[in-house]
Amino acid sequence: MVIKSLKLKNYRNYELLDLTFDPKTNILYGDNAQGKTNVLEALYLSGTTKSHRGTKDRDLIQFERDEAHLETIVEKRGIEYQIDMHLKKNSPKGIAINKIPIRKASELFGIIHFVFFSPEDLNIIKDGPSGRRRFIDLELSQLDKVYLSNLSNYNRIINQRNSLLKDIYKQENLRETLDIWDMQLVEYGTKVMESRKRFIEDVNEIISNIHYKLTGGKENITLSYECSVGNLTLEQALKKNRERDMRLKSTSVGPHRDDLCFMAGSLDIRKFGSQGQQRTAALSLKLSEIELVRSLIRDTPVLLLDDVLSELDKHRQNYLLDSIHDIQTVITCTGLDEFVNHRFSINKIFHVKNGQVAKEN
Ligand SMILES: Nc1ncnc2c1ncn2[C@@H]1O[C@H](COP(=O)(O)OP(=O)(O)O)[C@@H](O)[C@H]1O
Ligand SMILES: [Mg+2]
Repeated sequence: MVIKSLKLKNYRNYELLDLTFDPKTNILYGDNAQGKTNVLEALYLSGTTKSHRGTKDRDLIQFERDEAHLETIVEKRGIEYQIDMHLKKNSPKGIAINKIPIRKASELFGIIHFVFFSPEDLNIIKDGPSGRRRFIDLELSQLDKVYLSNLSNYNRIINQRNSLLKDIYKQENLRETLDIWDMQLVEYGTKVMESRKRFIEDVNEIISNIHYKLTGGKENITLSYECSVGNLTLEQALKKNRERDMRLKSTSVGPHRDDLCFMAGSLDIRKFGSQGQQRTAALSLKLSEIELVRSLIRDTPVLLLDDVLSELDKHRQNYLLDSIHDIQTVITCTGLDEFVNHRFSINKIFHVKNGQVAKEN
């Protein structure tokens, strides 16, 4: 799949933008705060309905404006799709595919698949579990609509259970209703956990080879799913922790507390890895994501690389660029120096300055 073009109106610092992309490598370069990431964000939004930064729609609209428009043209297996998005200040966004409005955001999934790689992703191993859960959730939601629906149901019920736990404190007779919530929580939570387990097993098969090569044969990496329920089922764990949950007024076990574990041999990289080891593992994870998506959707995802090249040493830069030579990529960077000595061919170069983009070749 490839993105053919992107048009923006009143989006972030773009009053008007009309870009045509090359099917291979596109570079957007320019100083800081000029609007490079905003372009990648707009692309990601038109494939996933969400900003990769988690920004609310109203903040994506240009300051002082009430609405923003995005139009993306995608080509997939020889067929063109036009995705229109209309962001509004005080109501949900409107989305149309080939001019036909869709009712559920998830109808958009499956048309275009993005892999977003930003400098923050390089900290995914070092930082806390929430970033690792977010990684799994974002990727699985793009791959599997059923996962997305199970996860949103689970999250909704967790919020309701937690507010109930607060109310029980004041109103003891509400205790019985907890069983009803727990039944649903178990239903959706178990499905979420199963999908995540399968996803991690799939990534695990791919990552070992990539990581082995990336570390010059020095390190073997293994991923595993770390469940907060341990060896119990979610139902058993909820029962066991009920008194504690009531005391803490929040739910202490379940997929919202789970983690992804990275081991190099017997070393837990999250806790004991060096900074370099952690970043290399993060790069391996991202590269595995591309490979996994490629094999699951039987097509190439579009890679959005936001300012990561300058964060990597030459060896890792080369490895990354070599691995992505056959997929459409939009790369942002502050200068073109990073590419000078690389045999990698750049197909289109754009200069970004203050919400204006000029094509240079
Ligand atoms: N809603 C908005 N309306 C207008 N400008 C915005 C909005 N949100 C962010 N900006 C501007 O966008 C710029 C940052 O763009 P960004 O794409 O992150 O820059 P970079 O080129 O460093 O990646 C800043 O100048 C910021 O003021
Ligand atoms: Mg940026």
